[in-house]
Amino acid sequence: MIWVTGLDVILKLVKNIITIDGPSGVGKGTLAFTLAERLGWNVLDSGLLYRLVGYLSLEEKLESLSEIVLFLNKSKIKLLTNLKDSICEIELNERIVGKELRNEDIALRASELAKEEEIRNAIITIQRNAYDPEKGLIADGRDMGTVIFPEASLKVFLQASPEVRAERRANQLKEKGMSVIMHDLLELIKQRDEEDMNRKISPLKPAEGSLIIDTSNLSIQEVEEKVMENYKKL
Ligand code: C5P
Repeated sequence: MIWVTGLDVILKLVKNIITIDGPSGVGKGTLAFTLAERLGWNVLDSGLLYRLVGYLSLEEKLESLSEIVLFLNKSKIKLLTNLKDSICEIELNERIVGKELRNEDIALRASELAKEEEIRNAIITIQRNAYDPEKGLIADGRDMGTVIFPEASLKVFLQASPEVRAERRANQLKEKGMSVIMHDLLELIKQRDEEDMNRKISPLKPAEGSLIIDTSNLSIQEVEEKVMENYKKL
């Protein structure tokens, strides 16, 4: 909730939203699901919505930004948290999409389109509606703490070196049976960092007051404990 009084903007902080921002491969998704299971909350994987946009552009051949925005506006889009498989999915006009969005070509196209204000504006409400006050939400992305849920009382920013992140991504892809060229993966990661950190609108950066954690040499349990320690202090 945002109250505007004169020139001051006062945010009423909300305890049952935790935002997790950071570049790809820092462990945001794993942390999000670990916390969601522990707290019984939902997960918003906002990157999946941007991947959907990338998919519409690459696979459904929606060529212009206005075609994509029109498609998004007239579609029924529901975000689903699948705690059993630790993944988020999207119900798009009664069809479940998820797996087909998780490849590096779509991620790169998503990053290119995520620079566009029209695209970002078109999915703000879908993201904010993922918060059910009765349930609680772990929001994973790039601008969760800065733009989408500035009212979250705990904002986490994860970081790790590009090399560590490329290795983690390679392992994830190999587990899914995909072949990986390490050098190309590292380049793609650096290219996406560049796009995400240097764009004019909602660039990737820690929100004010974020808990910043470098996950390069930490296990997921260690990261989880750091976050929970801070959550319990709220
Ligand atoms: O998180 P994931 O890697 O699936 O995100 C794909 C791309 O979507 C990111 O590289 C980024 O450009 C964009 N994105 C974004 N804002 C978010 C989440 C993702 O710009 N909140």
